[in-house]
Amino acid sequence: MAMGAGSKQPRSLAIRWYPARHGSFTLIVWCLAALVMLLILHLFISRKVEQIVRGIDEVEEEAFPVKLARSWRNPRVARRKGEHRTLPVVDEFLVESSAVHHAFFPEGEVTMDPVNGGNDRRYLYYPGRVWLDTDGKPIQAHGGGVLYDEKSETYFWYGENKDGKTYKAHDKGPDRVDIVGVSCYSSKDLWSWTNQGVVLQGEEKNLFHDLHKSNVLERPKVIYNNRTGKYVMWMHTDDANYTKSSIGVASSDSPTGPFTYLYSKRPHNCESRDMTIFKDDDGKAYLIYSSKGNSELHIARLTDEYLDVTDDMRRILVARYREAPALFKSGGTYYMITSGCTGWAPNTAKAHAATSIMGPWETLGNPFVGGNEIYRSTTFFSQGTFVLPVAGLPGLFIFMADRWKPSDLRDSRYVWLPLTVGGLPDEAADYSFMFPLWSRVSIYWHKVWRLPEKSYRVT
Ligand code: GAL
Repeated sequence: MAMGAGSKQPRSLAIRWYPARHGSFTLIVWCLAALVMLLILHLFISRKVEQIVRGIDEVEEEAFPVKLARSWRNPRVARRKGEHRTLPVVDEFLVESSAVHHAFFPEGEVTMDPVNGGNDRRYLYYPGRVWLDTDGKPIQAHGGGVLYDEKSETYFWYGENKDGKTYKAHDKGPDRVDIVGVSCYSSKDLWSWTNQGVVLQGEEKNLFHDLHKSNVLERPKVIYNNRTGKYVMWMHTDDANYTKSSIGVASSDSPTGPFTYLYSKRPHNCESRDMTIFKDDDGKAYLIYSSKGNSELHIARLTDEYLDVTDDMRRILVARYREAPALFKSGGTYYMITSGCTGWAPNTAKAHAATSIMGPWETLGNPFVGGNEIYRSTTFFSQGTFVLPVAGLPGLFIFMADRWKPSDLRDSRYVWLPLTVGGLPDEAADYSFMFPLWSRVSIYWHKVWRLPEKSYRVT
């Protein structure tokens, strides 16, 4: 019996074993098919991404995304309104319920998200989308600027934290949010930002403090002083009616703060509203501010510690009504992007250039390329705040701008786009004859773009 059973065993085993082997074979075939499908899907997605990410300086034309009210199509209306008035299309954009508004403040899933965004979307910039930090919260760094800290080889993005309710201090006042403070975010790749907290706090109680929450703190910028080892922050401080028009200064031993608020003043006894600071290659630093009812800009050298202005000041772009200055240097020439003066409403930006930082400064015209006429005349529905040189890639800059949302300022968006310098400018220079001294500043519209790999593959 045992023998018989024994002799049968291999047969019955073989019979039982065969379907199992058959099952594994089928499983293997399915696995292989699934792998091939995944590979095809991956190739398809990455090809799609490659197709939408064009070369940085490729001209990307784009139709206006929605139908406009009739007023924009009448060029006489636009001309009659003049440069300091908003364009009809902008009036439409500012109405929260309008289709134009919705097109430029996309909601829902359409975010830049370093945690849940998916690998195929990493390092892609989508101007105007909600941009999340590494905690999954919208970045609060409006009117800001970026410092590249050589010691830690890290970028720090400082800006206005506007995470509060938008309201008007009085009927005719501009929309505002109480001062929360200056936020700081850190990044190695300029795309994925980690919240370092509010590094300069607004003041809750003391009504007489410059940074009392009922006041205004705008456009903070930070530079590092190699001599003193301090990180120095300059900002626009004001009252709710913008009548104090002063600068404020703070400093810290660390880029992530806390920053100690030092004082405010009117530089050179002049009004000072929109402003920026710029550190030159020789270590000298400068303050640039809109003054005299925003009709002109002033540029002044800072003291060696960067804690005050010197008396060395020049008035530039006089009677041009420019604000939101963003200064940078390329190939030994100084360049600046400014906006017109229409509050939170977007307007046409201009590029300017100078061989000496103290001037004379000349206007080169509208720097924008691509998109469409409306995009180019509205700074792609945003206002500049900073021009960031990309470390390790000379000649490549990022134009940083804010797409302000006056109905809910905390949900204002960021528009980051590539900026290059080269080619002939559009407008003849004021002070040169016949031949242009300057190169063209070009800021390229892209629905989606990314930096050359070299700049973000930081190890
Ligand atoms: C803009 C300025 C912003 C803010 C706003 C208030 O002209 O650039 O920084 O001050 O006005 O309406």
